[in-house]
Amino acid sequence: MTIKPVRKAVFPVAGLGTRFLPATKAMPKEMLTVVDKPLIQYAVEEALEAGIEQIIFVTGRNKSAIEDHFDIAYELEDTMRARGKSLAAIDGIRMEPGSPVYIRQQEPLGLGHAVWCAREIVGDEPFAVLLPDELMVGGCLRQMVDAYARVGGNIVAALEVPAEETHKYGVIAPGAEDGRLVGIEALVEKPAQGSAPSNLMIPGRYILQPEVMRILDAKQTGAGGEIQLTDAMAQLIGKQPFHGFRFTGDRHDCGDKAGYIQANLALALARDDLAPQVRDFARALLA
Ligand code: UTP
Repeated sequence: MTIKPVRKAVFPVAGLGTRFLPATKAMPKEMLTVVDKPLIQYAVEEALEAGIEQIIFVTGRNKSAIEDHFDIAYELEDTMRARGKSLAAIDGIRMEPGSPVYIRQQEPLGLGHAVWCAREIVGDEPFAVLLPDELMVGGCLRQMVDAYARVGGNIVAALEVPAEETHKYGVIAPGAEDGRLVGIEALVEKPAQGSAPSNLMIPGRYILQPEVMRILDAKQTGAGGEIQLTDAMAQLIGKQPFHGFRFTGDRHDCGDKAGYIQANLALALARDDLAPQVRDFARALLA
């Protein structure tokens, strides 16, 4: 089996972010900041660090702030330069001309549909999918790419969550364990409470083979009436290698308010320039 390298990453950012209203009424959820960086930048940096060469955003209306964020900010840069201010904070965000690629989903019909919208750009190669509202600390995609180099096929990140949370996620029915890799017998999207096959869910990082696009062509709807990526992936089980990967590092669910606040606290406490102040302030608040 030849294992083709993963060069492309799809970032579905066309969701409406209803759980974060009113913040997301006019601003994309992916531009919410954790400490001083928008969520989307954390995810793009994770992908670049994993060796991804082409960034593909699947966007919708109201998402132009994302495009601006990765472009030249001419007026800002010029004024900062004229005032002798350092551009270090925005260095490295701007991409090469012609990159990233932006595609419109037009209607938020589900994560599977968003991924399918990238089919022409993905072409006949394996690709990664990163959901930017899941903030990963510790290079989750890099670890997955390393595992992929060994086993190929399809790999999804896998994370244990408490049983009462499984109904919110895509859940894995696990098979044989091989170190951090776990075989996948079945996948279920948002199982009804009490019916999940395990506590092992998929926290928004995927390496997929292009055949999944042919399954998504059928535009079958699943949980919530949406075209679900999980359902399309489930159809590849048994036809192609399919593994879960228990990554090391922290995951913050920033699509959820409590998870988002936790991410801000955790990342601020990990920064030397902020930790002492934040620690004092948090202690005082809790007292
Ligand atoms: P979510 O399930 O978090 O949906 O999508 P959402 O719309 O962003 O947020 P809520 O639930 O209304 O608060 C998971 C990921 O899939 C993308 C979202 O942008 C997010 O990154 N997505 C979802 C799309 O790009 N298109 C869709 O049709 C649905």
